[in-house]
Amino acid sequence: MKQKMKSQKQNTKDRKTAKRIFRSWTCSSFKQYKLTKRSFFKHSPKQKTMIKITELEKVYRTEEVETIALNKLTMEVKEGEFVAVMGPSGCGKSTLLNILGLLDDPDKGSFLFNKIEVAHFNERKRADLRKHNIGFVFQSFNLIDELTVFENVELPLIYTGVKSADRKIKVEQVLDRVQIMHRRNHYPQQLSGGQQQRVAVARAVVNKPKLILADEPTGNLDSSNGNDVMQLLTELNEQGTTIVMVTHSEHDARYSHRIIRMLDGQAVVENIMA
Ligand SMILES: Nc1ncnc2c1ncn2[C@@H]1O[C@H](COP(=O)(O)OP(=O)(O)O)[C@@H](O)[C@H]1O
Ligand SMILES: [Mg+2]
Repeated sequence: MKQKMKSQKQNTKDRKTAKRIFRSWTCSSFKQYKLTKRSFFKHSPKQKTMIKITELEKVYRTEEVETIALNKLTMEVKEGEFVAVMGPSGCGKSTLLNILGLLDDPDKGSFLFNKIEVAHFNERKRADLRKHNIGFVFQSFNLIDELTVFENVELPLIYTGVKSADRKIKVEQVLDRVQIMHRRNHYPQQLSGGQQQRVAVARAVVNKPKLILADEPTGNLDSSNGNDVMQLLTELNEQGTTIVMVTHSEHDARYSHRIIRMLDGQAVVENIMA
């Protein structure tokens, strides 16, 4: 009898151990799988297309002149890519970014965002897609002077209807991440350029967008602050965020996977980074 109980006890113990091992194995294997999947997808030609633009045209008309800002531009961006867009001033880079960010619409051509045709979405649909999927970083930071650092970063969460208590947690997390928590009650004008851009990056990512659009994000920064911002963008990309960044800096472009070079509203050359 005693012997039987002992062996039953041993059995239960063995089962528990086996369960524990199995659980830890599946957890770590799943983590490993996810990591492998990410690094595999990063450079795999099979990864999903996030942006597909075909023969896109945008013309600005004033009373005297007509400017062709985008001239049958065709390009693609895969999910998880970090793409730099370069080209001389006036070649259409900001126009492209505004259309990608659904801030503006093209005159002709197709723009598929996650396989959905969005080129002629109305303003309400564009705004809805934008606030859930896209974060912006601009050269001139574009923070609201009358709001504190905390309030600036909180804004996208208010737009998407996040409750106050959750907003506080999310804003604090992201301010911590860009190392600007100690300035949470300051106003933008009380911060250096580098700090302001870190706040702008925090605001761009607080909603965990799938796509970040950055228009010369280091254009107003010295090289040390510029490198910090590039480092931050690289980390976000490594965690899965797709990035399209306009830049004049070959140095900054080296952080990307691929450079699309534009001229007169068209994509003319592509360089894949080693
Ligand atoms: N709102 C606008 N009205 C008229 N012309 C514009 C407007 N926005 C841009 N443009 C013109 O379109 C062309 C492309 O501009 P832009 O996309 O800002 O170029 P980039 O960002 O490459 O310097 C330029 O010739 C510019 O002057
Ligand atoms: Mg521009």
